[in-house]
Amino acid sequence: MDKRKIIIDCDPGHDDAVAIMLAASSPKLELLALTVEAGNQTLEKTGRNSLNLVNYLNLNIPVALGEKRPLKREPQTCAAIHGESGLDGFTFPKYESSYSKLSAVELIHELLNEHKKVTLVPTGPLTNIAKWILTYPDDLKYVDEIVLMGGSIGYGNVSPAAEFNILCDPEAAEIVFNTKKVKMMGLDVTRQVLLYPEILERMNKIGNRVSDLFYALMKTFNKNQKKIFGFIGAPLHDPATIVYLIDPSVIELKHMNVVIDVTGGPSYGRTNCDQFDYLHQEKNAYVAVNINVDKYWDVIEEGLRRYSK
Ligand code: RIB
Ligand code: CA
Repeated sequence: MDKRKIIIDCDPGHDDAVAIMLAASSPKLELLALTVEAGNQTLEKTGRNSLNLVNYLNLNIPVALGEKRPLKREPQTCAAIHGESGLDGFTFPKYESSYSKLSAVELIHELLNEHKKVTLVPTGPLTNIAKWILTYPDDLKYVDEIVLMGGSIGYGNVSPAAEFNILCDPEAAEIVFNTKKVKMMGLDVTRQVLLYPEILERMNKIGNRVSDLFYALMKTFNKNQKKIFGFIGAPLHDPATIVYLIDPSVIELKHMNVVIDVTGGPSYGRTNCDQFDYLHQEKNAYVAVNINVDKYWDVIEEGLRRYSK
């Protein structure tokens, strides 16, 4: 069976890290590269975290730095959840490694023209993807899907209306959703997959060096989410993209019209999802409306177990 070729565009970020762990161990996926942007932390920190993860997971793939700031609005980070390093909770060994000589936009362009059919998996703000679309619009023919974590049919998580990845760069999100290639794993489903203590212990029992990393990072992720939101178990957002690619039966999608609010008011960055087709506008995205929580954790556990001791 041909592996699906993917590029993860990320801002590690604790949940981004788990998405990378899963993608790297799946026999169904070929992770071609990581492209990185600012988001959970500054680009310098999300970049360093990406390099550390690629080295710790022994991945021989390029890591390309992307955009330091959004297309239009002011940058924002999420240190309260992800910490000063952007990946608090684990101290990586000192690795000798460097970034790709290409920028994120150039690396995406090069890989798409080389492989001809790639799935893009954004798990952070959409600035890099939007910049690539603006720079190389013809490349879109090589992209089969854009399976992203972001947005919500319901309320937001960094404003009443908006989810973090979209609110970080609403103008970029508008460009990406206009491709009509988006599958959106939003808060409506990711808020159902919560890292309760029993889940943490279940994964810790796997007992290999990657499940150890998972456990260390998720304990910190949980602690910070509890401090901010009072959650007993943190929502494990980003891996929903990879779980969907590994087993599409885990997440139910519905085709609908999604409009990004770029007006700059109190709903700035909202994904207005017309799930009941009130406005009869063109359906431009598939949006996650349901998730099988038990199967989600089974896929996560299986992905972690694939690593050697
Ligand atoms: O809203 C959740 C998203 O914001 C996740 O991608 C998380 O990593 C943060 O970037
Ligand atoms: Ca992220």
